[in-house]
Amino acid sequence: MQILIHSTDAEQWRAAIADALPTASVVTSEASLELRQDADYLVAWQPPGWLFEEQPHLKGILNLGAGVDALLANPSLPPGVPIVKLRDAGMADPMIDYVRYAVLHFQRDFDRYARQQAHLQWQEQPLVPKADWAIGVLGLGAIGARVAQALAADGFPVHGWSLRPKNLDGITCHHGEAGLKALLGQVTSLVTLLPDTPATRGIIDAEALAALPRGASLINPGRGSLIEETALLEALGPADREDEGDARLRGAVLDAFPVEPLPADSPLWQHPRVLITPHMAAPTPRDAALAQVIATLRAWQAGESVPSIDPAAGY
Ligand code: GLV
Repeated sequence: MQILIHSTDAEQWRAAIADALPTASVVTSEASLELRQDADYLVAWQPPGWLFEEQPHLKGILNLGAGVDALLANPSLPPGVPIVKLRDAGMADPMIDYVRYAVLHFQRDFDRYARQQAHLQWQEQPLVPKADWAIGVLGLGAIGARVAQALAADGFPVHGWSLRPKNLDGITCHHGEAGLKALLGQVTSLVTLLPDTPATRGIIDAEALAALPRGASLINPGRGSLIEETALLEALGPADREDEGDARLRGAVLDAFPVEPLPADSPLWQHPRVLITPHMAAPTPRDAALAQVIATLRAWQAGESVPSIDPAAGY
């Protein structure tokens, strides 16, 4: 079995996989063409097109992340080769921390206190109890479900939404177009953890934002394509005004963007009520993900099939 690795930390992955699968030949995309050609399996994060073009015999692709959007958008991706993605694999824990921080940013008024500090203003804001702060989580996959349940355990009422019906303990679950409308109307913070697919692109548009209660907040650690940027800016209101006034959105915490890094001329950088982080919410932890990677490669080696993504659905 010949395994080819492509990622920014390919050498560490190579060493760990070679250690766990001593009979396999494991090389990185940095190896000479002679060594890396004719791979059976590709283990990769955002591989370039040329890598596919020189590998005509791939039998499986293991995506070193939860989102397969970049892979599916690659015009050189060979059709019909099964793609397996990481499921949670240690990413849910840092994602829970990120979302918790972002929710508290608004619920405990850290956004307002930062502004007050700039004006040397000592003024306590009235505390809205968690029980009165409903949170909507869009996307109830391996990561979204864990985030929803962690927030519910913290004491927030949590509404979850998925394309197809789902049941999750402690979460009020909605689905489909009508379910989305129902959810949007009653949440104070909206968290978007959907994959980037034809069905989810632009799902948070002007209409969706208008359905949120006035003063709601948006937290997007999912994918940039979920949000229509002009509608978001419109809902945030004027950037020359520090407080939200009567804007639909009190603020936004954003980790994912349609173009990354976020271009310098994006008005989001300058908006006083937008907090931007550089797609760091849930990096793939190598130690935690390794077990899943090895289990998949072992199953492939044994000729067993492994649940793979549906390229038409996009996840
Ligand atoms: C990160 O964005 C991932 O898809 O794992």
